[in-house]
Amino acid sequence: QHPRNVGEIENPDGVGTVGNPLCGDMMTFYIRVQDDRLVDVKFKTFGCGAAIAVSSMVTEMAKGKTLDEVMAITNEKVAGQLGGLPMNKMHCSNLGADALHRAIEDYRSKQQQK
Ligand code: FES
Repeated sequence: QHPRNVGEIENPDGVGTVGNPLCGDMMTFYIRVQDDRLVDVKFKTFGCGAAIAVSSMVTEMAKGKTLDEVMAITNEKVAGQLGGLPMNKMHCSNLGADALHRAIEDYRSKQQQK
């Protein structure tokens, strides 16, 4: 009911979007990186309450961590931090960490191009 870190980052260092084919919901994560650390992360989620809770939780878990530490956050860990999700909502948890990881991959591929 009180999601954290909702919104967009202007000129983000990386962006990652994942859609859920089961329900059509979408998540986009925007990241700011300094010295290989995630200093800011925001998200926009078009989806159910569980998807929004997952998005919020993964941003809270990831902020301030190194990129490698963030890459080690799994969807299962996020669902666990939320105290679990009902069985029919477990698919919602499959988006959060994946979308954030995609934003980091986007950042890393941009760095390689520089
Ligand atoms: Fe699709 Fe939750 S119902 S993400």
